[in-house]
Amino acid sequence: MADALTAEGINLAFGGHRVLTDVSLDFRAGQITGLIGPNGAGKTSLFNCLTGLYQPQQGSIALCGRRIEALPPARRAREGLARSFQHVALCPDLTVAENVMFGRARLGKAGWFDAFLPLPRGRAEAAEARAAAEKVLARLGLSAFSEALPASLPPGTQRMVEIARAIVAEPRVLLLDEPAAGLNAAETRHLTEALRALAAPDLIMVVVEHDMDLIMQVCDRIHVLNFGRRIASGTPAEIRADPEVVRVYLGDPDD
Ligand SMILES: Nc1ncnc2c1ncn2[C@@H]1O[C@H](COP(=O)(O)OP(=O)(O)O)[C@@H](O)[C@H]1O
Ligand SMILES: [Mg+2]
Repeated sequence: MADALTAEGINLAFGGHRVLTDVSLDFRAGQITGLIGPNGAGKTSLFNCLTGLYQPQQGSIALCGRRIEALPPARRAREGLARSFQHVALCPDLTVAENVMFGRARLGKAGWFDAFLPLPRGRAEAAEARAAAEKVLARLGLSAFSEALPASLPPGTQRMVEIARAIVAEPRVLLLDEPAAGLNAAETRHLTEALRALAAPDLIMVVVEHDMDLIMQVCDRIHVLNFGRRIASGTPAEIRADPEVVRVYLGDPDD
């Protein structure tokens, strides 16, 4: 599929432990796709396969028709794959704006730390990266925090900063792993609105999340994993009515 991230026949195991079994699915541009499933279903592992952190034993991955499964993580990032992690991973010693600037690295020609050295090429790129970071922070309503250190901010704001860092390089694919984890109700509402506002015709957005309200509100389509297998795909309404999904989430009364 042209404007999509597709995985075909992904098999991943660690030793004898099968984590993903024959997983085939696609994530389309212009949509927000949810990836849901119980703990241990393989959602984060699938993200790791997509970004190149894990190398599946079998399967192919294509971004907009181009095979990427043989590319190392840094090359995939340059192809436009950006992600946030299940646990907030901001540099504690850098300000919010500096953290977001780091997300710009894939576009830089100067090495990514040259931007912090007083060399002409690094300086020009740093100025450009700073401007891009300030723009993204403004877009997410975070301008007031640009000079703050991450640890001084509430969890919801740290999450939003991570998302800012992921989108500052104008990725083609945005993979978000449990963005609402640890957020209170108000923060989750803010995040829900921010995610909807980020959707764009050429952006492939994927959200792993346990918060079903958030998933049902932001997603155009949903894939469901259970024990490393895809068990359902469809619109939020279809997924809500799917008997197997209901059984997995609510438990089988006969068990
Ligand atoms: N690096 C690894 N080594 C061994 N087992 C792993 C590794 N990464 C994930 N797993 C296993 O894969 C399964 C799925 O984990 P994960 O992808 O984190 O699930 P989810 O994100 O859906 O909760 C779990 O049983 C987990 O222990
Ligand atoms: Mg996970």
